[in-house]
Amino acid sequence: MKKFILSAAFMSLSILMLAGCGDSSNKKSTAKTSEPELSAWEKENGFGPVKEKVVLGAIDKKMAAKGEKIFESKCASCHKLDERYVGPAQRNVLERVTPEFFMNMVLNPDENIDKHPHAKQMLAVYLQRMTNQNVNLQDARELLEYFRVLDEGLKAKK
Ligand code: HEC
Repeated sequence: MKKFILSAAFMSLSILMLAGCGDSSNKKSTAKTSEPELSAWEKENGFGPVKEKVVLGAIDKKMAAKGEKIFESKCASCHKLDERYVGPAQRNVLERVTPEFFMNMVLNPDENIDKHPHAKQMLAVYLQRMTNQNVNLQDARELLEYFRVLDEGLKAKK
């Protein structure tokens, strides 16, 4: 009995120590400087074919409707709008990332998952890589328009 109590105490102690270790290594990794430096553009907008700010005019409802169809056929297998699924809930994506990051991630997920801190952090949470859906620039722009509509909806509620 004594032995049991001792080993139970030891186990909880090691769990505590492990948890403690996890914490401190996390702190260290954010302070690490060995990661390649991203340019200011890359930090904000990711890696991919979109290399300058997209000109956003008034919302184009036709484009947004096309974007919604693309979302349903190429993205909904992994993303829901309001709940976590294989990937993160997407309704509020434009509150997390810039329009240009959104397009680059959709067009070029692999490089972003390998190099961009936001995509890497998401991978650590969702434990699955987003796959390339072979969308072209026009598709990505239409998807963006769809998410602009959803974002307006969110803003209107606030
Ligand atoms: C095979 C599943 C899968 C498919 C299909 C998929 N995604 Fe993803 N997506 C993910 C996962 C998982 C993540 C989290 C990062 C990672 O692990 O790659 C992600 C991340 C993202 C991000 C990163 C930004 C953020 O904060 O949410 C965007 C934007 C995104 N997906 C949009 C899309 C769009 C648009 C499509 C359709 C063209 C799509 N995804 C198709 C699984 C998928």
